[in-house]
Amino acid sequence: MKQKIGILYSTVDGQTLKICNYIHGLMDPKKTSANLYSIDNFNSNLADFDVLIIGASIRYGKHNEKIREFILNNREDLGKIRTGFFSVNLVARKDNKNLPSTNPYLIKFIEQIKWEPDVLDVFAGKLDYKSYPFFDRIMIKLIMKMTKGPTKTDQPIEYTDWERVKNFTSKMLEDE
Ligand SMILES: Cc1cc2nc3c(=O)[nH]c(=O)nc-3n(C[C@H](O)[C@H](O)[C@H](O)COP(=O)(O)O)c2cc1C
Repeated sequence: MKQKIGILYSTVDGQTLKICNYIHGLMDPKKTSANLYSIDNFNSNLADFDVLIIGASIRYGKHNEKIREFILNNREDLGKIRTGFFSVNLVARKDNKNLPSTNPYLIKFIEQIKWEPDVLDVFAGKLDYKSYPFFDRIMIKLIMKMTKGPTKTDQPIEYTDWERVKNFTSKMLEDE
């Protein structure tokens, strides 16, 4: 029997979706049946999955509210399957903030929702000033300045460490 895997995401500019697509691409279709779902139109029964991976990005300090609600509303069913959660944010580009135990957004999120997935991780996202509307651009520059990052870039910078994503995926499939 193939392992049924759901990959549920919330993304604004597409980096979390890119990571989810990468994870999906790492799965062996002979052994797994994996599908991607946006949190905006997810209505499957959790009992249909053996594994559920949830990925969400940070915007102004917070993960998407729908992701939080989904986890809170389904805590019991989530406890019956293998689960993984990863956060995507720019602070995670820093060596001392790129682990579940050191990334402030992830620490706070897990504390607040009181949910422990089987596998937890955090990945650095993408910085692309040119794609941000004026207000967001100013705000991100401020965040980057405060965290000693670039406040100007000619090209987008993708900080995502794909090896980390690979390791996360292997851990998710360990029970296979
Ligand atoms: C409007 C806006 C607000 C953001 N706020 C934060 C933040 O508070 N902390 C942080 O580390 N990254 C922040 N980011 C960076 C995003 O988390 C990062 O760009 C990530 O790759 C976005 O993933 P997504 O494209 O899947 O939404 C912000 C980005 C934008 C555009």
